[in-house]
Amino acid sequence: MALDRPRVLSGIQPTSGSFHLGNYLGAVRQWVAQQETHDAFYMVVDLHALTVVQDAEALRANARIAAAQLLAAGLDPERCTVFIQSHVPEHAQLAWVLNCLTGFGEASRMTQFKDKSVKQGADRTTVGLFTYPVLMAADILLYRSDAVPVGGDQRQHLELTRVLAERFNARYGETFTVPDAFIVPETARITDLQDPSVKMSKSASTPKGIVNLLDEPRSSAKKIRSAVTDTDTVIRYDEEKKPGISNLLTIYASLADTTVAELEQRYEGKGYGALKTDLADVLLDWVTPFRDRTREYLDDPGTLNSILAQGAEKARAVAAETLALVYERVGFLTAKH
Ligand code: TYM
Repeated sequence: MALDRPRVLSGIQPTSGSFHLGNYLGAVRQWVAQQETHDAFYMVVDLHALTVVQDAEALRANARIAAAQLLAAGLDPERCTVFIQSHVPEHAQLAWVLNCLTGFGEASRMTQFKDKSVKQGADRTTVGLFTYPVLMAADILLYRSDAVPVGGDQRQHLELTRVLAERFNARYGETFTVPDAFIVPETARITDLQDPSVKMSKSASTPKGIVNLLDEPRSSAKKIRSAVTDTDTVIRYDEEKKPGISNLLTIYASLADTTVAELEQRYEGKGYGALKTDLADVLLDWVTPFRDRTREYLDDPGTLNSILAQGAEKARAVAAETLALVYERVGFLTAKH
């Protein structure tokens, strides 16, 4: 890992056991590519998962499943640092300092929080959910990340992170790198297969609208074949007029490593059925070995544990250094004998 490489960091929640296609195409796929070009840190954000009610055993199991999926997707612990957020206590420690730098109004304007809290009602909404973006800022700033590969739904959180970094630097002196969001426009928003007006999401999608990577592959292929399209027949990318077909073209191009333009040409004069059948096969071919590799990591807890322990150690070395500087800058007394 060359020291002069720019640094990236990103995270994914371990909430529902399986990642979905939006997680993979919007984020994890970029993580795999960037381990070759960047000093890369990727983590399973179990602290964030706790912002909604979790069964303890399920959370523990899901964190392992999430880590196994990251490895199965192609993250290589020799090339990047893979770890579990709660293994590095500095995340929560920096989050407190940043909480004290964040305006209440500023945090209240986060749209993900507003959406979720409206859905759940004020009493079921935790203070943890409210400060979720601040913890995310701590995740990023601890590693002095240059870039953060995420899907489009995280853009506002990245903006808050930049504001907090600049505020801290202005008040206490240059400490943090102000990070850029790294969002691939083509795959920033994979939509629901049954309702292409909304993003594919663990919380909002119906079972038929979401492709979970660990589901039975044939059932996922079937979901592609029954994706909602339109009454036209031409296979052309047009997000506004043909959102369903456009989403399928995006998924196809990304999974098959080609371009939407090439697919439009290839399917000229062919029907929606042909496109769906072929994409279902492409998905099947990708997801089947992915699922097998995930299972292999889960069946070998010794290897998984040691990868995660090593990752935590590498992450902590960086995080502890930043936190020590922050503690010094804000005026905390150093413990001395
Ligand atoms: P999470 O776990 O909700 O999602 C993980 C990643 O998947 C992306 N994503 C999508 N991309 C395209 N289309 C979709 N339909 C779609 N659905 C999800 C998300 O944008 C995300 O990149 N807050 C983060 C986790 C986090 C984090 C961090 C990320 C915590 N700390 C620090 C970066 C840096 C989240 O909830 O991701």
